[in-house]
Amino acid sequence: MRILDASLEFRMLSEKSAETVRATLPAVGAAIGEITGSFYERLFAAHPELLRDLFNRGNQADGSQRQALAGSIAAFATALVEHPDQRPDAMLARIAHKHASLGIAPEQYQVVHTHLFAAIVEVLGDAVTPEVAAAWDEVYWLMANALIAIEARLYEESGTRGERRPYTVVARTAETADVATFLLRPADGGPVPAHKPGQYVSVQVELPDGAHQIRQYSLSGRPEGGLRITVKKVAGDPAGEVSHHLHQHVDEGATLLISAPFGDVQLADGDRPVVLASAGIGCTPIVGMLTHLAETGAARKVIAVHGDRQESAHAFRDEFVQLVDKLPGGEAHVWYERPEGEWPAGRTGLVDLTALDVPADAVAYLCGPLPFMRAVRTQLLAAGVPAADIHYEVFGPDLWLGQG
Ligand SMILES: Cc1cc2nc3c(=O)[nH]c(=O)nc-3n(C[C@H](O)[C@H](O)[C@H](O)COP(=O)(O)OP(=O)(O)OC[C@H]3O[C@@H](n4cnc5c(N)ncnc54)[C@H](O)[C@@H]3O)c2cc1C
Ligand code: HEM
Repeated sequence: MRILDASLEFRMLSEKSAETVRATLPAVGAAIGEITGSFYERLFAAHPELLRDLFNRGNQADGSQRQALAGSIAAFATALVEHPDQRPDAMLARIAHKHASLGIAPEQYQVVHTHLFAAIVEVLGDAVTPEVAAAWDEVYWLMANALIAIEARLYEESGTRGERRPYTVVARTAETADVATFLLRPADGGPVPAHKPGQYVSVQVELPDGAHQIRQYSLSGRPEGGLRITVKKVAGDPAGEVSHHLHQHVDEGATLLISAPFGDVQLADGDRPVVLASAGIGCTPIVGMLTHLAETGAARKVIAVHGDRQESAHAFRDEFVQLVDKLPGGEAHVWYERPEGEWPAGRTGLVDLTALDVPADAVAYLCGPLPFMRAVRTQLLAAGVPAADIHYEVFGPDLWLGQG
C-alpha cells in the first residue's frame, strides 16, 4: 500500500468544530446511509449524465457505492475527532486512485458538496443548526482537499487528467468458458504508460442505450508494447453490463477507451517473503505481480496461493505454475472446491494457509471475494503476519474502507 507524501498537509478540525462533530457524530453516523441515498438521488436528478457516463449504475442499483461513501465519511470524521494527529492515509489513497482512474476533477467536489449538504438538511432537519452545518462543512472540505491534493499528484505522475485514450485490441484469448484476455496497444502507436504490478485501468464502453459506462480491470501482465486485461463475464439477473459487452462485442481490431494505470495496491520490491493469494477472477493482479517477479528474477520467497471452484474455471492455471517455476524461492498451491480432473497441483476444498509454512515477516497481497479475503487474512494473522502487511484489492466499492 502506498504511503502518502508526508508533505501533504493534514489540517486538523478547529477546536470548536471538533466539539460539535463529536457531539453530532452518533446522529450523523446513524443517518449516514439515508443521507448518502438522498445525496445520490439529488446528484443524479440534477446531473443525469453522471449516472449514465461516470458512476457505475450497477453499484447504484445494489447500494454498494452508497455504503462505501457512507463508510468513508463516517470513518474520516471519527478519525478527525479521535486521532486528530493521524491521517487515514490508506483509505484516502484507495479513494484517490479510484477517482484518478475515473478522471474526477477538483471542481466536481463543489457539486458533490451542494447535493450532500442538501441531503444532510433533508434527513436531519432542524438538528442542522448553522453551527452544526459549519462543523460538517469543515469535515467535508478537509476530506475533499486531501483527496484533491492526492489526485493532483497522481495526475501529475501519470501525465494525464484521468482521461481515457483509444487502444486497439490486438488479440483476444479465451482463458476459460467465461474469462477472456484482451491485449491492448495504444491506437496512436504512442508509448505504453508505466505501471506497478497490482494496478488497474479504467475501461469505458458505449452500451446499447447510449450510456458510456466505466469499469476497472487489473493489469494481468505487461506484454511488449501493450497492456493486458482479463475479464470475467458476470452472470446474474441482470447480467453484468460492461463485462457482457466486452465478451459479446469486443474482438481483435476493436477500439477501447482506457485510462492510465492507477491503484494503491502495488507489489513492493525488496527481499521480504511475499504471500500472493487469489480466488476466482482475483487472479488477475496476482498474475501481474508474478509476471513482474519472474521478469525481474526475484530471489525472495514467494508463496503463491489460488482457490477456485474447479479446474476448468481457473483462469491462468498453467501460466500460474509456469511463472512460479521461474522463481527460485517460489511455491504454488492451488485448491479446488469441486475438483474434476487430474491436475496434479490441486488440493480439495477452500484455501487453507495453515497447511503452509508462512513466515511472520511476510508481506501479503490478497484478491478475491470478501469471504475468501477475510478467511485468508485471519490465517495470516494467526501465522504472525502483522495486519499492516496484509494488502487487499476489492473488485467493487470497498466496503471495508475505514475499518483499519
Ligand atoms: C480495482 C478493480 C479491479 C478489477 N479487476 C478486474 C479484473 O481484472 N477482471 C474482472 O473480470 N473484473 C475486475 N473488476 C470488476 C469489474 O470492474 C466489474 O465490476 C465487473 O466486470 C462487473 O461489471 P459489469 O458491468 O459486467 O457488471 P455490472 O453491470 O456492474 O453488474 C454487477 C452486478 O450488479 C448486479 N446489478 C446490475 N444492475 C442491477 C440492477 N439494476 N439491480 C440489481 N442488480 C444489478 C448484476 O446482476 C451483477 O451481479 C475489478 C474491479 C475493481 C474495482
Ligand atoms: C469528499 C468527497 C468524496 C468522498 C468522501 C468520496 C468517496 C468515495 C468512495 C469511498 C468511493 C469508493 C472507492 C472504492 O471503493 O474504491 C468513491 C468512488 C467514486 N467516486 Fe467519490 N468521493 C468524493 C467525491 C467525489 C466526486 C467529487 C466525484 C465526482 C462527481 C466522485 C465520483 C466517484 C465515482 C464515479 C466513484 C466510483 C463509483 C463506482 O464505481 O461505483 N466522488 N468515492
